[in-house]
Amino acid sequence: MSLSVRTEGQSQPPDLRFQENAEERLHIFGGRRLRGEIRVSGAKNSAIALMPAALLGDSPSVIENVPRITDVSRYITLLHLLGAEIACCENTVTIDPQRVTSAALDGEPVRAMRASYYLMGALLGRFHEAHVGMPGGCDLGPRPIDQHLKGFEALGAEVEVQGGLVHLQARELHGARIYLDVVSVGATINLLLAAARADGQTIIENAAREPEVVDLANFLCAMGAQIRGAGTDTIRIQGVPHLHGASYSCIPDRIEAGTYMIAAAATKGRLRISGVIPTHLDPLIAKLREIGVRVEEHGDALLVDGSYPGQHAVDIKTQPYPGFPTDLQQPMTAYLAIVPGTSIITDTIYESRFRHVNELKRMGADIRVQGRTAVVEGVPQLTGAAVTVSDLRAGAALLVAGLEAEGETIVDGLIYLDRGYEHFEEKLAAVGAQLLRK
Ligand code: EPZ
Repeated sequence: MSLSVRTEGQSQPPDLRFQENAEERLHIFGGRRLRGEIRVSGAKNSAIALMPAALLGDSPSVIENVPRITDVSRYITLLHLLGAEIACCENTVTIDPQRVTSAALDGEPVRAMRASYYLMGALLGRFHEAHVGMPGGCDLGPRPIDQHLKGFEALGAEVEVQGGLVHLQARELHGARIYLDVVSVGATINLLLAAARADGQTIIENAAREPEVVDLANFLCAMGAQIRGAGTDTIRIQGVPHLHGASYSCIPDRIEAGTYMIAAAATKGRLRISGVIPTHLDPLIAKLREIGVRVEEHGDALLVDGSYPGQHAVDIKTQPYPGFPTDLQQPMTAYLAIVPGTSIITDTIYESRFRHVNELKRMGADIRVQGRTAVVEGVPQLTGAAVTVSDLRAGAALLVAGLEAEGETIVDGLIYLDRGYEHFEEKLAAVGAQLLRK
């Protein structure tokens, strides 16, 4: 095994990188009611957990319904740098992990995204060691990884953080009982990855219940893992010595679906959002109905009708799943900015996830932020302005704001939206939005 830490300076898979242009801006000509149907893509936060999981197999895995977004492109680069052979065709990614011989990776692609930390669990599970740069990702306040490291230690790894790298080394990896002090999606996923091939039983208590955790557990089970309880707060993993590759399809992206549902409501439009798992959206459906938006379930589609009068303010508190998702807090704030009355929005997950608010204020919103709470006084209308995106879901918020506002909104910082929303301009243009990237 090579122990030199690989970086992005080494060969790249040239045909696998999707377009990224930091100079481009999005011009939105708002005030149009969205009407029609949007089909939801595969879940970003599943895809970027399933791809490192494929490293645990001793034969190729085929992952379908993978969204073509830059976070996926970055993950492909990471796996390629480790030596995996990767082929992409439309939304299917085939990963052959057999030639991966290195457990060490650092550099810009590692630091550019949060989910690069899943390489720690996957490489530790496969090689009993991992040397991976500290992750980056959206700036939402402090985002420690202490629960991940505590769990790796419990599984038998020595942990050292030095020079911006996390070094994990285990003579043997064994099952353990791990209680997470905070409900963490990332720590739950990382510990599933590390424990799937460990000796004996691992029990993760106070585990995250997010659908993306369940999706990963299902994929690992398709690879031969023995996991019970995913989707509850206690997950039991009976380690197995080997996993094989598997064919699997990512669940639909509940946050993408939710963003378009909010856009339908915000433009007083009527959208059919298809290809979703409605129960994943229960907290948003409940809030939209409370506001006065009609939401109907039709099998794997949701019909959202925001054209009825009498909408009124609501309070929202983000919580781990099945509570209201923090990832929809920002687009929801943009919508509530034009809903009559006072809405109080509290983000209990992140310390600093209101950087979109200053931009909304440029568009005429009346919002005060106090700590983790935003007090939103609904105004009759927002007006277009030049705004800048600070993080992925702030981008979703400004997209919603631009669609609901009168006049032209110019959105700078599209690289954030491209990280998480597949073909969003085409999808929105097809339901009546007027937007132009240039
Ligand atoms: C995942 O982030 C998602 N990212 C986030 O989506 C999402 O906002 C978040 O889960 C919550 O749902 C990915 O799946 C790649 P956490 P993650 O660990 O795993 C604290 C988006 O927009 N914590 O569940 O990093 C942490 O600081 C992104 O798509 C610790 O204190 O989130 C936070 O306050 C943004 N110690 C809370 O727990 C730890 O060791 C929840 O974080 C780990 C986390």
